[in-house]
Amino acid sequence: MEFISVERVEELLHIDQEPKGTIDPPASWPGFNSEIRFEDATIRYAPNLDPAVKNVTLRIPHGSTTAVMGRTGSGKSTLVSAILGVVRTESGQITIDGIDVAEVFVEKLRQRVTFVAQEPVLFAGNIRHNMDPLQDFSDEECTNALDRVCGHQGWRLDTEIESGGRNISQGQRQLLGIAVSQ
Ligand SMILES: Nc1ncnc2c1ncn2[C@@H]1O[C@H](COP(=O)(O)OP(=O)(O)O)[C@@H](O)[C@H]1O
Ligand SMILES: [Mg+2]
Repeated sequence: MEFISVERVEELLHIDQEPKGTIDPPASWPGFNSEIRFEDATIRYAPNLDPAVKNVTLRIPHGSTTAVMGRTGSGKSTLVSAILGVVRTESGQITIDGIDVAEVFVEKLRQRVTFVAQEPVLFAGNIRHNMDPLQDFSDEECTNALDRVCGHQGWRLDTEIESGGRNISQGQRQLLGIAVSQ
């Protein structure tokens, strides 16, 4: 069993790396006055597949709460993944405050732009570990975020979460996802 893990790590060492990006965004980016624009964006998951999103042009004004509605499979989640550069545009552009997200250092893009996933990824460990795996924040900051979002759940930073969040409900997992994004 342990050698299967080694084999997997070995495989991961050989997969293509995503581009790291070339633009180091200013510290203030994205700001409250940044708008998100899709300009004629087409996104395809693989060359042999139809585009998941085709020639989309839209503007999300700064400070707005915007809802995108559409049938299952119409490409809503794809739009979000594209903002974080998880999937890339085949043609067209996505910009935040005029900066092309495809060009921004991916690490910075994903630190500064966040979204709460439909299915949050949770790890075995306590809530503190799930909220802040790299220990960038103080206990107090984590407790504040947890209380603000999950105040009624009676959770503490040392509350244990099972692998994948199996011991809490789907809705509670999403709440924890929101707390993490704070
Ligand atoms: N990882 C993927 N690989 C290939 N096709 C995908 C992938 N994710 C989504 N798709 C396809 O892209 C289209 C849009 O999916 P998605 O953005 O998840 O829709 P929605 O969020 O609106 O339900 C669908 O046809 C779906 O099958
Ligand atoms: Mg979706």
